[in-house]
Amino acid sequence: MVMLIGYNKVRTAVFISGSGSNLKSLIKFSKTKNSPISINMIISNNSKAKGLNYGKTFKIKRKIFKFNKKRLVEEKLLFTLRKNQINMICLAGFMEILTKNFIKKFKGKILNIHPSLLPKYKGLNTHQRALNNNERYSGCTVHFVNQKLDSGKIIIQKKVKISKNETKVSLAKKILIQEHKLYPKAILKVFSLQRKNQFRS
Ligand code: GRF
Repeated sequence: MVMLIGYNKVRTAVFISGSGSNLKSLIKFSKTKNSPISINMIISNNSKAKGLNYGKTFKIKRKIFKFNKKRLVEEKLLFTLRKNQINMICLAGFMEILTKNFIKKFKGKILNIHPSLLPKYKGLNTHQRALNNNERYSGCTVHFVNQKLDSGKIIIQKKVKISKNETKVSLAKKILIQEHKLYPKAILKVFSLQRKNQFRS
């Protein structure tokens, strides 16, 4: 019975570049009965990404794609994803910008997590920018990926209070803890909106 549920889960690839703590939280979530997704591939543009070790630990296929010739690399990546019947992509600290062409091929099936309350602070160095502007709150956002950086439809957000002596390091830590809870929630929300069929083809 459990195997049957596992079989029905939407096959998902997680794209990473670094430590992969969000990847780990997604893997753990994917193994719960409630999860609509299974993590079947880990893709990285960085062969030294620490997060790749989770592939070993949890026996998930890993592939490195060096993004030097982007269009060409993406063609190969698309081929690999199709070959592995991947129907959903979760970006989790992936430091490459995917081309319009790639995004079109997985339209509405790519999610990203960003460490700010979008639409504020798109791009890099979010925590320092929030502190520089004396924000009282920051947080994290999970959104659909469209052709504009960090601008796709927002799925869910979590607010985090900025303390008096906050530094960019302490804020990043606080927000990351929330990210680990928010990404699984976002996935549940996406699927509860009856979009499940959209991930089938
Ligand atoms: C997270 O803060 C994520 O929001 C951002 O990059 C960081 C990745 O952390 N896009 P990790 O690799 O998941 O630990």
